[in-house]
Amino acid sequence: MIVVSHRGPYRFEPDGRGGWRAHRGAGGVVSALAPLLAGRDDATWVAAALGEGDRAAAAAGMTGTDGGPTLRLLDIPTGLHRMHYDVVSNATLWFLLHGLFDLPRRPRFDRRFREAWEAYAAVNAAFADAVAEVAAPGEEVLVHDYHLALVPQRLRRQRPDLAVVHFMHTPFCDEHEIRVLPVDVAASLCASLAGGPVGFHTERWATAFGRAARAVLGGPSPGVFHATFGPDPVVLAAEVDRPEVRAHLARLEEEVDDRRVIVRSDRIELSKNIVRGFLAFDTLLEDHPEWRERVTFVAMCNPSRESLIDYVAYRQEVEAVVARINDRWRRGSWTPILFDARDDHARSLAAFVRADVLLVNPVRDGLNLVALEGPLCNRRDAVLCLSREAGAFELLADGALEVHPFDVLQTAEALARALDMTPGERASRAARLRAAARGHPPESWLAALVERARRATRARGR
Ligand code: G6P
Repeated sequence: MIVVSHRGPYRFEPDGRGGWRAHRGAGGVVSALAPLLAGRDDATWVAAALGEGDRAAAAAGMTGTDGGPTLRLLDIPTGLHRMHYDVVSNATLWFLLHGLFDLPRRPRFDRRFREAWEAYAAVNAAFADAVAEVAAPGEEVLVHDYHLALVPQRLRRQRPDLAVVHFMHTPFCDEHEIRVLPVDVAASLCASLAGGPVGFHTERWATAFGRAARAVLGGPSPGVFHATFGPDPVVLAAEVDRPEVRAHLARLEEEVDDRRVIVRSDRIELSKNIVRGFLAFDTLLEDHPEWRERVTFVAMCNPSRESLIDYVAYRQEVEAVVARINDRWRRGSWTPILFDARDDHARSLAAFVRADVLLVNPVRDGLNLVALEGPLCNRRDAVLCLSREAGAFELLADGALEVHPFDVLQTAEALARALDMTPGERASRAARLRAAARGHPPESWLAALVERARRATRARGR
């Protein structure tokens, strides 16, 4: 099996003794896929070398960690890579799929964009060529996400024997939003994805893609499917039990004392709606004075995509709103928001364990693993306040409290309701959340993808 994603499972850094230290990659996709493939030494993982450490490790012949997949890191020239990753993947496709464009100003499809689009196609071609070169006859190839949307079509042309499936971890835009893209760009993307099996985490995004592709291409996309990639409860339980996590938990317990705790854990990412989440907390403290000094908001927010100005500006906005709210409400030893921008998974896990309320309020999200992992780690029957625009809402609506991501007052009331909930209701909701979160084990997701890929190859052979 060959896994293809832009970000690889680790980032390498020299360890100072002539070897390499591997750090876990950021974001939901890699953190979910890496444990699933950890024992698969028969698999190959093709990814981009990100940064100097990765490039040097790739040049030195580093091919992975013991017992895991063989890593093949592509060393893409920096300028080309920037246009592929920053301009097209992140500033255009990610914004389109999550509904983030500020349309009176952006996007602008000018000559710079056209150059970047060519770079995007070239990087996709390099990924497809690398796979075509190493794949055994008939091998399964699992391509991930919007960075590599043109890979399936090129691979199908070069190696029709391969069982290729593309999986999008994002939402998909609707048939009106896709009209923002230049006609040929929309057609290339939709044709490549619709030409083979293409999967999404939930039915909503699979349907959205089907509609958008029909609007662009004029016909149906028979290969669209959905398969949810949920957490592995056993792996997660083992992670939570690590001494590092227990140490963080002990420190956190001391910091928050016997106060109630609201937790969020996100990349500092526009689609995660972090600022409105804090504004809702501000409103909660304003409208419900009984909670002042009795609740702490623990926010684990790790910096992301800082090569884009929008993300740098968003981080400043997030930090400014935290400072304003803390200045407004701080009393004695109580700091209303404990904001942590260190990228540390163990701290997030410790916060999930201690949470009384978990806030997940994205403006739009493919799934949102935090919404599934949080309830499985938690030991206090935490209430999940969950955006109806997250893919996870389809699975967890029955146990969660619904949040309207743009409605700050509604979000504040959902937080208040969560804090006030009786122990009985908390317990029964938490049990439903755990049952739903356990229902989508990674192996079933992997099996579904492989089956789709094989079925498509068999159909082509007939
Ligand atoms: C999302 C995407 C992933 C991506 C991750 C982190 O989860 O679906 O493909 O890897 O964000 O983003 P980054 O740009 O840091 O890879």
